[in-house]
Amino acid sequence: MTPDPINRRLGVLISGRGSNLQALIDAIADGRLQASIAVVISNREDAAGLPRARKEGIEAICLPHRGWPTRDDYNRALVRELQTRGVGVVCLAGFMRLVGAPLIEAFPHRVVNIHPSLLPAFPGLEAQRQAIEHGVKVSGVTVHLVTAELDAGPIIVQRAVPVLPGDTADSLAARILEEEHRAYPEAVQAILDGGWRVEGRRLVAAKSPTSAST
Ligand code: GRF
Repeated sequence: MTPDPINRRLGVLISGRGSNLQALIDAIADGRLQASIAVVISNREDAAGLPRARKEGIEAICLPHRGWPTRDDYNRALVRELQTRGVGVVCLAGFMRLVGAPLIEAFPHRVVNIHPSLLPAFPGLEAQRQAIEHGVKVSGVTVHLVTAELDAGPIIVQRAVPVLPGDTADSLAARILEEEHRAYPEAVQAILDGGWRVEGRRLVAAKSPTSAST
């Protein structure tokens, strides 16, 4: 039995600059990422990523996180906006809100995040500063599926970036960002290609139907 193909309509959630959103847009334009962006949603009206998306003709809306009785209510509102537009995969691209159960349950194994460190090192905020302060010699980028636990879901792609003598959090962040822009489209394409499953906390190659039956 062939598994259902994965719906390639992306919903991208942002809070700010949107350079990873731009990397996804560029990768779609030049064929490295076979997908479309159905909607971009920001929790902040002033996110620079919103005009970036609109310039490309992509629907981009603001859904402010304030004013909802609970975080779950906000997450349910996000789900409605995404489902209305037929989104299949949700890409978090600098979305500075905790994603909760309603969103993860509505898109099981279909929410992807990018984080600027080699997880499980330095989860949470200011990962590049954490890396500098810890004195590690190598940091990098992780793209992973989102689970209820912060920055801890199954890893799709990781790339190392050396920490150079004299690096500051800003200079390291700039070099990691270049790697992010390559890694994110690749990881999303890998998810869309299928042929994987989640085993515990790992993303592994799916067994072929033949090998599964032997
Ligand atoms: C990136 O460093 C990403 O890894 C982190 O937030 C930052 C977003 O940057 N989750 P941008 O908005 O994509 O430029």
